[in-house]
Amino acid sequence: MTNVSEKNILVLNGPNLNMLGTREPEIYGSETLFDIEKNMAAHAGTLGYSIDFRQSNSESELIGWIQEAGNNAQAILLNAGAFTHTSVAILDALQTVDIPVIEVHLSNIFRREEFRHHSYISPAANGVICGFGGNSYILALDAAHAILS
Ligand code: DQA
Repeated sequence: MTNVSEKNILVLNGPNLNMLGTREPEIYGSETLFDIEKNMAAHAGTLGYSIDFRQSNSESELIGWIQEAGNNAQAILLNAGAFTHTSVAILDALQTVDIPVIEVHLSNIFRREEFRHHSYISPAANGVICGFGGNSYILALDAAHAILS
């Protein structure tokens, strides 16, 4: 967990994203999740935010973090991984939180299998950024900053 300050952005990563770097690099690139975290922390610093960067393979843990975010964060950036395409429970959790939510994906989910074209999470998101690899997270940070400014 990164340092929590007054201007904090919660970055949540769902299942299998801990495997980035070795997981299907032709789709997800060669950056590890730690590389993404370091790049985000540096960019967040230039915008005056700290990030609280977390990953879990557990839907329950992600939901708990979303529920707590209303008190601890100014915005949520969420790459829910495969839960994007399955989880009404994560949608419900996001709808209880009254801060901006940006949905993030490394890959362009619309160029991939049809089951990835539907996101249960998008109705609770201010916007969706997908298809830019690790840079999707940086773009999402810029989007959150624009909403919060
Ligand atoms: C993903 C896309 C999802 O379809 C997939 O299940 C993932 C990663 C992405 O970042 O491109 O785990 O969210």
